[in-house]
Formats: sequence, C-alpha cells, structure tokens
Amino acid sequence: MNIEKLRQQFFILFDEPEQLPEVYFAPGRVNLIGEHTDYNGGFVLPCALQLGTWLLIRKRKDHLLRFASGNQEFRADILLEKANQPIAKSWVNYPLGVFDQFRQHQIPLQGFDMYFSGDIPNGAGLSSSASIEMVTAFALNDLLGAGLEMIDLVKWSQRAENEFVGVNCGIMDQFAVGMGEKDHAIFLNCLSLEHRPVPFKLDGYRLIVANTNKVRGLADSKYNERVAECQLAVTYLSDQFGVHKLGQISFMQFFKIQDIIPDEVIRKRARHVISEDQRVLNAISALSKYDIMQFGALMNASHESLRDNYEVTGPELDTLVEEAWKINGVIGARMTGAGFGGCTVNIVREDAVDRFLNEVGAAYFARTKLVPEFYMAQVSGGVRKH
Ligand code: GLA
Repeated sequence: MNIEKLRQQFFILFDEPEQLPEVYFAPGRVNLIGEHTDYNGGFVLPCALQLGTWLLIRKRKDHLLRFASGNQEFRADILLEKANQPIAKSWVNYPLGVFDQFRQHQIPLQGFDMYFSGDIPNGAGLSSSASIEMVTAFALNDLLGAGLEMIDLVKWSQRAENEFVGVNCGIMDQFAVGMGEKDHAIFLNCLSLEHRPVPFKLDGYRLIVANTNKVRGLADSKYNERVAECQLAVTYLSDQFGVHKLGQISFMQFFKIQDIIPDEVIRKRARHVISEDQRVLNAISALSKYDIMQFGALMNASHESLRDNYEVTGPELDTLVEEAWKINGVIGARMTGAGFGGCTVNIVREDAVDRFLNEVGAAYFARTKLVPEFYMAQVSGGVRKH
C-alpha cells in the first residue's frame, strides 16, 4: 500500500496538512481449520494475512469523530456524545462500536479524524470487519495512552461486533488479527483462551485463498441461527455432561450418546462442532510431524462436515472446493470463515499452482458464471503501528 497516497487522501478529506496523522495497520485472517467452533468454546487454527486495513488517524481538539474510507462512499461526522447509537447498515458501525466499548469502560475520549483504507475483499470471510475493529482499538489505546493489553482490545472488538453490529460472532477473528505472527498459525482454545503459535511455513507448497465472489446474502441472520442451534444442542447434552458449551464434549463422549438429541438437524450441528474440534487437534498433531498430507485430508473432511452437517457452504463454495479437489497437487481445500459465500483456503504443491489457477478458475466460471479471485496468502504479523 502506498502510504504517501493515503496521506494525500487524508489531507484532501480533512485539511490542516501541518498536522500529520499516525498510521496503523491490522491484517485480515484466514482460518486453516476449526470452523464454527469458536462460539462453542472449541479450538481454531487461524493465521493473519498480508492483506489488511490501514488507519490514518489524528487527534482533534473538539469532540467530533470524522470517519472516511477509501473503500466505501459513506462518510460520517458524529459527535462523541451521540456516538452510542449504531447507524443503519454502515461500515462506520465497526469503529463506532469500538469507541462505544472505550466509553463503556470509562476511558476518557476525544475527537479524531480517521481515514480507513484496506485491501481485504469485503464480505469474503477474511475478517475485514475484525480488521477495522482491531485497528481502531489498537490506535485508540496507543493515542489515548489507555495501557490496555492486546487481549482486552480483542475482547472489546468482539463485543463491538456483538453489541453494535448485531452479529453474535466468536472471538477467533479479532484474536487472529491481534495475535497473528509471521509464519505461524495460532492454536487457540476459545474457552480458556489459552493459545500458542504453531510454525506454519509450507516449504514446496503455497497457501492460496480463493474468493467465490458470491455475495453473502443473509449471512448474518444464518450465522446467528447456527449460534442458536448450538445453544439448543447444549441444553440436551448439559444434564449428561454438566457442560455449557459443545466444545467441552469429546467426540468419543458425543458418539455414544448423540441420540439424546431428538432433532436430527440439531444433532448434525453438534456433530459438526464436536468432530471439527477433534480435527483441529489431529491437525496440530499432523503439523508437528510435518505430515502435510494428513493436514490436507483433515481440511477436506472439515469442508464435508460444514457442507453436510452444518450446512453453511452452498453451491458456489462447494463448486470451488470440488474443482480444487480434482487437481493433482492440491493437498487440501475447504471453505473458510462463516460460509454462505466468501472464500476457500487451499494448500497447493508449488508445481501445481499454475494448473490450479487456470483449471479451477475456468471450471468454476463454467459451472457458476462467476469469476473467482485468487490470493497468494502470506502468513503475517498482527495489528501494529506502521
Ligand atoms: C466468522 C465469525 C467467527 C467464526 C467464523 C466461523 O468469521 O466472525 O467468530 O465463528 O465465522 O468459524
């Protein structure tokens, strides 16, 4: 990203070129395995990407918050005193929700000029929203000298999304954006928040993210529906196990008593979450043995479960994954993120990359009439000052 150009744009929008803005960056993320497990207290294995959101931000002497974006037309000037209300369907709710968290935690606030610009495709399941939230939280903490820990910024950003945007998301995205490390994935237990970096350097292979370019219609309401279905599954199992999250039940335990859940759909939802947790553990063990083939097989199984048990894939994601599976040299392919459109993540042997891009691209277009996009992922660091 050309920071000088961003700076020029900032001054066109906000004047006063003698007062330089500070520059911050937060990445997007791709989840390698462990999908729809985070809000169930399960395991995830995401990593931060080179794609992300830049924030140019400057303190003001008054109480005005000025929001502008290089990616969206909509701009807003909001007085701090009125900043506790979401704006209907606007990107501004992501940073505004973070301001609201600082306010709720009694951190003294002031006005700011803010210009956001990013290269994460919107609504593609690569956490453009968590990236905006985290870059805001990180910058505010720094500029206000609030002295917060990264984990607080992660939790507040998640809460901003839950309370202000209205998506009952788990903690994975904000966590990966905050805690990402170059060449490492993050193995996170979403119940205890214990985590550790896991080396993820693919010698001889590439990590390729493929965008279906299918707009995620109804994604938020379907997402909240899955969250509710998992809560219902827990009510059937809690007597037996004394648990409050599906992630607290092992696959062996579940396998024996799954018929306690009377409703087949709810049983399938629980089966996905609990088996996916086991796949994450197996994936960690595969990585520790450099067994990339096993890791890929687990990614494939994850997709099948998200398709058949959790039902969050849809024709576009399924087609993109099926076409990837056909290519000799594709080690693993699955949907990533919330689903219902968005992206897939693929591990591809280096000598098969060109074939992958050409053949998967053409076959996907032939079947869906959508042109996919491909990104060569680089596993990068978390939110930082530029
Ligand atoms: C979205 C949410 C995450 C997580 C994934 C699915 O990205 O923001 O919290 O639930 O979907 O794994």
